Amino acid sequence: RRGLQTFGRVTLVALVTATGVFLLVTQSESHPGEQLPQDPTKPTLVVLGSGWGATSFLKNLDTEEFNVVVVSPRNYFLFTPLLPSVTVGTLEPRSLIQPTRFITRHKKRDVLVYEAEARTVDPINKTVTFEDISEVKGKKGSVTIPYDYLVYAVGCENQTFGIKGVREHACFLKELSDADKIRSKLMDCIETAAFRDQSQEEIERLMHMVVVGGGPTGVEYAGELHDFLIDDLKKWYPEVADRLKITLIEALPNVLPAFSKQLIQYTESTFKENKIDVLTRTMVKDVGETSVTVQDANKEIREIPYGLLVWATGNTSRPITLDLMSKLPATQTQRRGLVIDDYLQLLGAKDVFAIGDCTATQYAPTAQVASQEGIYLASVFAKLGQKNKYERQLAELRASGTASADDIEHVVKKLNRATKLTPFHYSHQGSLAYIGSEKAIADLPLFNGNVASGGGAAMLFWRSAYVSTLYSVRNRTLVMTDWIKVKLFGRDVSRE
Ligand code: FAD
Ligand code: NAI
Repeated sequence: RRGLQTFGRVTLVALVTATGVFLLVTQSESHPGEQLPQDPTKPTLVVLGSGWGATSFLKNLDTEEFNVVVVSPRNYFLFTPLLPSVTVGTLEPRSLIQPTRFITRHKKRDVLVYEAEARTVDPINKTVTFEDISEVKGKKGSVTIPYDYLVYAVGCENQTFGIKGVREHACFLKELSDADKIRSKLMDCIETAAFRDQSQEEIERLMHMVVVGGGPTGVEYAGELHDFLIDDLKKWYPEVADRLKITLIEALPNVLPAFSKQLIQYTESTFKENKIDVLTRTMVKDVGETSVTVQDANKEIREIPYGLLVWATGNTSRPITLDLMSKLPATQTQRRGLVIDDYLQLLGAKDVFAIGDCTATQYAPTAQVASQEGIYLASVFAKLGQKNKYERQLAELRASGTASADDIEHVVKKLNRATKLTPFHYSHQGSLAYIGSEKAIADLPLFNGNVASGGGAAMLFWRSAYVSTLYSVRNRTLVMTDWIKVKLFGRDVSRE
């Protein structure tokens, strides 16, 4: 009995402490303090983008020595690894985003944030021109500003390889609006299939969900779609649910080329069990309104009718990046992305740094790489800030005429330390992907080798790894609440 009482007391104390810590953290998250105003004597640092690279840079940047300006057409950070879950309503869209102003309002010095798209960068005159591309426009919609330093982190756009009809008829899965569009179109297909007297052939087409691209985006989307079918569609649309068919089309001999052989096999066999058709060595050649034309391994051409088509064939450079490359023809020679050095400086331009998917490096275009580059770059800027500060101090000491040689020597030493940089080093933490039916795959660099794991344990690991990397306590709370909601009530099948 005494043991029980002690246990009760300890539990109560632990609960009260946890609630106290939770409230304290949420209070400090939602009530930012006073900030220093921008200082005209400090250099201007313009950051383009609000994705993984830019956000991790901003989060780690000491703003004291810089006047920071952020320009991005999206006024929030999006946690892309969980985006496929939004397409079927496992997660709500707003659970995955964090306003950029939330990030910048927690910085030491005031940061200016503009919701706008950068149109051009002039690396010679060191200016950026950006434009308000939102629906509501004021009298001023475009402006050019000078920069002392530029951090270029605009990411990539969807690759279509110029295939006809993709942009008109397919859905991409990169932005939050893409996931919303997929969710709405998916429900539209299902409702239309359930329409009175719909022909069998038309039901079959409308209920055929085709995914092009067997990279992690396509695989994760197919997995989520399968869960939706099993957990919810069968319950709420019994008349058509059995007709739902998922087909994944991949040009290469297997899906997930970046994962280990064992995990590729595990994914393909899980998909087989889940009746997801995987067409490998099959290339989409043309996209029509209701069917795609493919060429299979035997070079045979055939038509595949579809209701919903999700296009996930990777990345390509944005027009502004191609424009920037064209201004630096001697050094920017790779169409794949911007060429940078080991310190993430753009080759051929002064005081421009580039990070994330917009660059062409030895690393895969992943959030992991972009965020580690952002952290590293913030450390470079910490040194740059110190360098500027010591240079100013040195100039003042020398101008005063009264400084001793020792004083000057002391500052010179500090200055030398601040100019010493170590190159960027990427540390791979492993690759994870959700493949449906509560299974995930994990390729982890452990014990001096790679550990490949698939199944329920990997799924738990996948969930906890992503929850812990979500941006804020608010995001973590929302995501976990969404998961609990889906477990209790199922997914919402209404179409907005
Ligand atoms: P982004 O995060 O794309 O950010 C680019 C930013 O630039 C955006 O804010 C955009 O609005 C802004 N921008 C665009 N044009 C302009 C302009 N002209 N001017 C100013 N700003 C501009 N990676 C992983 O490591 N693990 C995963 O599990 C994973 N899952 C993913 C799931 C999905 C569905 C997708 C699509 C990607 C996933 N990735 C994952 C890849 C990861 O999201 C990218 O590698 C990462 O977003 C790259 O970061 P970035 O900062 O370079 O670009
Ligand atoms: P991807 O480039 O990884 O894969 C695209 C796939 O589409 C390729 O396998 C390619 O062969 C195929 N393809 C291209 N054209 C085709 C055609 N015409 N017909 C059929 N197939 C075609 O692209 P994805 O999945 O969008 O990923 C982009 C980046 O984001 C990658 O670096 C990836 O690692 C990262 N990412 C990581 C995730 C994770 O770690 N869980 C999740 C999602 C993305």
